[in-house]
Amino acid sequence: MGSAAASPPPSGKLTQEELKRVAAHRAVEFVEPGMTLGLGTGSTAAHALDRLGDLLRAGALPGVAGVPTSLKTEAHAARAGIPLLPLPGARIALSIDGADEVDPDLNLVKGRGGSLLREKMIEGAGARFVVIVDESKLVPRLGCTGAIPVEVIPFGALHTLGLIRGLFDGLPGFHARLRTVPAAPAKGGEDSDSESEQPFVTDNGNYIVEMFFEDGIRGDLRDISDRLLRITGVVEHGMFLGMATTVIVANKDGTVSVMD
Ligand code: 5RP
Repeated sequence: MGSAAASPPPSGKLTQEELKRVAAHRAVEFVEPGMTLGLGTGSTAAHALDRLGDLLRAGALPGVAGVPTSLKTEAHAARAGIPLLPLPGARIALSIDGADEVDPDLNLVKGRGGSLLREKMIEGAGARFVVIVDESKLVPRLGCTGAIPVEVIPFGALHTLGLIRGLFDGLPGFHARLRTVPAAPAKGGEDSDSESEQPFVTDNGNYIVEMFFEDGIRGDLRDISDRLLRITGVVEHGMFLGMATTVIVANKDGTVSVMD
């Protein structure tokens, strides 16, 4: 990790939502006229979209356009008035996105919002990837605060889940499951089972396996990444290793740290 600089705190105690906005606005300061941006997904990235929209409307960022990392971001960016481009052909100068976790080497867990595949494609294609988080996202090890998601194809998803479990066989505290959401009520309503769950479906029509580690994932992360990606049926996982070029952290005390 490189430099860590802190700016003076604003007066008053900020809520977590305000901290997200502070980090997002700082990241937007990196945007220059004419840039094509990777537009992230999530509640923190949403603040960056709103800020970009405001600056575009004010005429401060002529020629800026974005490549959205999810259908939700596509809709939000369109409402904010950000011109959108598809991934092929766009030369992405800078991506701005949140993260679920950031470790001391600036490796990330992403995708608890379900958008890891497009995020990894777009953020990996750009020259610079600026991550925006509040302090609660800083962890000693990936997987400390929740799931590491893995996108899998629906065909044979439970078989793929078994293969993923097999990679960590016998590891104390490890478990994995298919991510589910409450089933939509059946048409007419009367026959619907309010208790039933169905697989969460990504923008790409895939499912998500959630891996949980007691106290975080240990070992050679690149090797673990390779072994996951070698499983037929796995599309991508939510460990973003060595991808972040800058992490902007809004601290609880209102200061902002920039790590790169
Ligand atoms: C979505 C993501 C998000 O960036 C991540 O979940 C952080 O979200 P938030 O800013 O809402 O905490 O990876 O797939």
